[in-house]
Amino acid sequence: MKPTRSRLKKPMAEAVQRYTASIAYDRRLAPYDIAGSIAHARMLGRQGVIPGEDAEAIVAGLEAIGREIAEGAFPFRDDLEDIHMNVEARLAERIGDVAGKLHTGRSRNDQIALDMRLFCKDAAAQVQDGLSRLRKAVLEQAEAHVETVIPGYTHLQRAQPVLLAHHLLAYDEMLARDGERFAGCYGRADVMPLGSGALAGAPYPFDRESVARELGFSRVSSNSMDAVSDRDFVIELHAAAAIAMMHLSRLAEELILWSSTEFGFVELDDAYATGSSLMPQKKNPDVAELARAKTGRVYGHLMGALTVMKALPLAYNRDLQEDKEALFDTVDTLTSTLDIFAAMLGGLRFDPERMRQAATGGHLLATDVADYLVKKGVPFREAHRIVGELVRQADDQGKELGGLTMEEYQRVSPEFDRDVLAIDVSTSIAARSLPGGTAPRQVRQAISEAKRRLSDDG
Ligand code: ARG
Repeated sequence: MKPTRSRLKKPMAEAVQRYTASIAYDRRLAPYDIAGSIAHARMLGRQGVIPGEDAEAIVAGLEAIGREIAEGAFPFRDDLEDIHMNVEARLAERIGDVAGKLHTGRSRNDQIALDMRLFCKDAAAQVQDGLSRLRKAVLEQAEAHVETVIPGYTHLQRAQPVLLAHHLLAYDEMLARDGERFAGCYGRADVMPLGSGALAGAPYPFDRESVARELGFSRVSSNSMDAVSDRDFVIELHAAAAIAMMHLSRLAEELILWSSTEFGFVELDDAYATGSSLMPQKKNPDVAELARAKTGRVYGHLMGALTVMKALPLAYNRDLQEDKEALFDTVDTLTSTLDIFAAMLGGLRFDPERMRQAATGGHLLATDVADYLVKKGVPFREAHRIVGELVRQADDQGKELGGLTMEEYQRVSPEFDRDVLAIDVSTSIAARSLPGGTAPRQVRQAISEAKRRLSDDG
């Protein structure tokens, strides 16, 4: 008979055992579970709730179990439901009845809340680390391409020329905000729930602060019912991960487009590309495609976690057990995507010549010509109309805007002088020199600020 079933008349049906067991996946929480139990046992001894020598025996037993688990020698048992019962039963095997004192004033409800919070803190830190390494790779490419011009797009139509560095720095901004979100996740997970018991608190003279300190938490929870029953810190980790994956999927999509023959802007390193089983000529961007798809999986986990929590009455409910597999998968998906993107980004070979060519076609300087007229006093709307007319004429003759003659310009508006012919990609880019713009001066400054920010974060 299991220790928790004395009031029940029958052993648990095997189907129920299989249905309710979480040990297959929550064993991943073992290091946190053991650390939490060690801190709890030490505190029980310090406070005189259990004799000091009992606490020492429990701690030594738990440490040995920790080693067993790390070495892969721990005999995990499916019939013991979860990681908490597995560790406790093993402790009894090793040290005898005194093991039964460990659970004094503690419930699996505050125990699992603790394990999950410790896991989320580590996960948030690991994601931040991955974000920093990816940002470093992005910034290195940006630094290498402060002179490389590309067409900037809106609606995936060529819009205005920009520096490739400026385009890449947009991703640094997104990833930096992702880092801030994970710092927020870390901060809100950083609350120690032990001492909450099953839901009402514990009737012993516990020193919760010392347990928090030992486990590296900066504060203790202030409401026992909230502490055992909410998983908002899990949901927000999914949410931050979903947003980060959304950013990565946009980068992925651009790499897929840009590495196509149609664009030809970039070539993936062979180590980060795949071949086709049928077409010998193929070099495929499968990593980026999988990242794009895995984003959906993380979105799904966010929705799943929100749905598990929706309308649960206070305090603990077994539903909460369903938060784990999705959380692990979200964290693994995001961290592995960050790692592989950092490596893949480093190996990208951009084709500046091809990009410049693309930035010279498609009347990308039309806005600059309109701005030219505005500087001569023409209202912007009128300038827009005039340049639209010029674009149409150029198109009719199969030319670019810059290919029109002085006479052709002046026929549409007498405001044009010879200096209109000096407008080119470089003047267009250099003109956008407000903070946040694509002018080389601004972009150089943005890179050094981004590097400073990254070293502050890292
Ligand atoms: N495996 C459970 C979970 O993940 C641990 C807590 C079980 N508590 C209980 N009262 N059955 O939430």
